[in-house]
Amino acid sequence: MKEKSIIILGIESSCDDTSAAIIKDTTILSNVVAGQEIHKQYGGVVPELASRAHQQNIIPVVDAAIKKAGIKTDEIDAVAFTKGPGLLGSLVVGTSFAKAFALAKNIPLIDVNHMYGHVLAHFITNNNIHTPSFPFLCLTISGGHTQIVLVKSHLEMEIIGSTIDDAAGEAFDKTAKLLGFPYPGGPLIDKHAKEGNPFAFEFAKPQIQGYNYSFSGLKTSILYFLQQKMKENPDFVKENLNDICASVQNTIIEILFKKLLKASKELKINQIAIAGGVSANSGVRQKLKEHGEKQNWSTYIPEFQYCTDNAGMIAITGHYMYKLGLFTDQSVSAGARIPFQSR
Ligand code: KG4
Ligand code: ZN
Repeated sequence: MKEKSIIILGIESSCDDTSAAIIKDTTILSNVVAGQEIHKQYGGVVPELASRAHQQNIIPVVDAAIKKAGIKTDEIDAVAFTKGPGLLGSLVVGTSFAKAFALAKNIPLIDVNHMYGHVLAHFITNNNIHTPSFPFLCLTISGGHTQIVLVKSHLEMEIIGSTIDDAAGEAFDKTAKLLGFPYPGGPLIDKHAKEGNPFAFEFAKPQIQGYNYSFSGLKTSILYFLQQKMKENPDFVKENLNDICASVQNTIIEILFKKLLKASKELKINQIAIAGGVSANSGVRQKLKEHGEKQNWSTYIPEFQYCTDNAGMIAITGHYMYKLGLFTDQSVSAGARIPFQSR
C-alpha cells in the first residue's frame, strides 16, 4: 500500500521576506514570497521596519499559499518555521504565528535552521529529478553567510569553511552602495556585469587559511580604487559602470571558487551544489557549470525561486524532520544566532 502523503506548511521570516509554502512530500504546491520595498530608501534592512512588515504580511501570505496550493487547512500535517539565524524581531513574527497555528490545529511544530533550509532546497523535486547524492559539498552564499557545507545526509551537515568577516552577498551589496545602487544591489551588479568586461579592473584577493573566506579587504580595495579614479575623473563610475560591475563580480566569483575547488580536491568529492541568494547570480551559475565540465563535477543549482529566502526550503527541511519525528513544542522561541548544528 502507498504511504500516506505528508503535507507541511512552511514559514520563513528571518530577514526582509515574508514567505509561506505548502509542500506535499517533496513537491511544492505553493511558495508565496512578499518582499519589503520599504528598506530600499535606507540602503539596507531596518530591523524594526522589517518586523512590522512581517506582522502585516504574515496572514495574507499564509492565506495565499493555502489557496494557491488548493488544499484545505485541515489537511496540513505539521507547520515548519525558521527558528533562526536571522533578525530577532523578524523571526519572532514567524515563530509566534507557527506556534499559534500548531496549537489551534493541534498539529506538530517543527523548528528549522534557516541554513539547513538553503542546502535542502536541492531536494525540492518539482520539475527536478536531478538531486545531489551524499556526501556532497554545498557552497551556501547569502547576504548573511558564506560557507562550504559538507552534507552527509539530509540532516547531517558540517561547516568546513566560512567567512571570517563579510558574507559574499554583503560584498555585492556594499559595492552596489558605493556605486549608488539601491538595496539590495547584488542583482543590479549582476545585470550590469552582463554588459561589461570582467578583466577590465583588478582588485585585492584575500590570502586566508583552509577553506575560510574573507571579503572585507576586497570592499576596502574597491573603495580606494573608486576614490582614486573619481579624483582623476568625476564621471569615472558613470562611464565605466558595466566594466566595474563585471570586474567586481568576477573577483568575488574567483574568491568563492578557489576554496570550493580546494575542498573538492582534498576531500575527493565531486558532487557540488550552490545555495543561498547569491547563487541566483548568473556569473556564479555559469562558473559552476564551467568548473563542472572541467573538473568532472556533478553540479546542482536550485531553481531561481528557491535560491533567495523562501518558505519552500523551510517546508522541505520540515518534511525530512517530520519523517524522523523531530518536533518541538510551545516552549520554543526564536534564536537570532543559533549555531549551525542546533535547531
Ligand atoms: O539568501 P538571501 O535571500 O538572504 C539571506 O539569507 O541573506 O540572500 C540575499 C543576498 C543579498 O545580498 C542579495 O544582494 C544577494 O543575495 N543576491 C544576489 C543576486 N540575487 C540576490 N547577488 C548577486 N547577484 C544576484 N543575482
Ligand atoms: Zn537566507
